[in-house]
Amino acid sequence: MTQDEMKQKVAEAALEYVRAGTIVGVGTGSTANMFIDALAGMKGEILGAVASSEATAIRLAGHGIPVLDLNEALKQVDSLSVYVDGADEFDAERNLTKGGGGALTREKIVAAAAVQFVCIVDQSKQVEYLG
Ligand code: A5P
Repeated sequence: MTQDEMKQKVAEAALEYVRAGTIVGVGTGSTANMFIDALAGMKGEILGAVASSEATAIRLAGHGIPVLDLNEALKQVDSLSVYVDGADEFDAERNLTKGGGGALTREKIVAAAAVQFVCIVDQSKQVEYLG
């Protein structure tokens, strides 16, 4: 399986964590982009999404998924149900490094507003020691 095929698989698997009637936090990067493409199939079921970057907001909107800013979203719901994002590296203890795409601050803010953080990584991201 190629890396893109693995990214596609993990992106589709993350849909399992998306619940109808909720607002979803969405990360940044090539894996998150594949999640956005998969999420488009559920756009009629969710209230919308909060983006962790402008690139993510543009891709969400391109699929017709309502994009809300975080303050607007938190007026409608107590918290985001889930935040889905990739990572640069992970280790055997599930520690992560993130931010290679340059959106780390906003990613952390959106992730902190979510009940659950689902990290979607393919096998190529596994390292023995982070960094
Ligand atoms: C964005 O700032 C990063 O945290 C990305 O989530 C991370 O770099 C993973 O990106 P890819 O999915 O493109 O590998």
